[in-house]
Amino acid sequence: MTEHTERVHEPRIAVYPGSFDPVTLGHLDIIQRAAKQFDKLIVAVLNNLSKQPTFSVEERKELLRQITRHIPNVEIDSFRDLLVNYMEQKQGHVIVRGIRSVTDFEYELQMASTNQKLNPRVETIFMMTNPKYSYLSSSMVKEIAKFNGDVSELVAPEVELALRDKFKDTN
Ligand code: PNS
Repeated sequence: MTEHTERVHEPRIAVYPGSFDPVTLGHLDIIQRAAKQFDKLIVAVLNNLSKQPTFSVEERKELLRQITRHIPNVEIDSFRDLLVNYMEQKQGHVIVRGIRSVTDFEYELQMASTNQKLNPRVETIFMMTNPKYSYLSSSMVKEIAKFNGDVSELVAPEVELALRDKFKDTN
């Protein structure tokens, strides 16, 4: 067997990292498309101790689990390390990030270049967000939900319920 054939059979593991506070249909679209490209896709929620999220890491993971139940090669996890260290730990080859617009690009390029510098073995792959969701962000969704707006076309029903519950005492 040549070195090339051996490499072809190595499982391709990708990691889709993010805050997912909460996961939107834009994220779900990327998860579904990325899962088709790799043997395993790990969706990894950043456990950022210096940030005050709306949903706890456990809540965010549970929502991700619920809405990706139908995709067998998706695993939900969290990390609090440098992303490149987490990649090593999970034997991940590729970081997946979605790009909505040129405004995302500068930040994403900076992050991908930093990760490349920290670990040149890890590759970042950008996927274009479905234009249907190009304006969508978790913060926008929270803003709408806080004021009792309709988010049914922006998030999965499970997330809509969780948002309603989270903000029920806000108004
Ligand atoms: O959904 P987000 O908030 O845009 O995701 C950002 C994330 C989690 C991908 C990024 O903040 C990250 O990877 N943080 C982990 C710390 C790290 O590795 N930093 C160095 C690369 S910038």
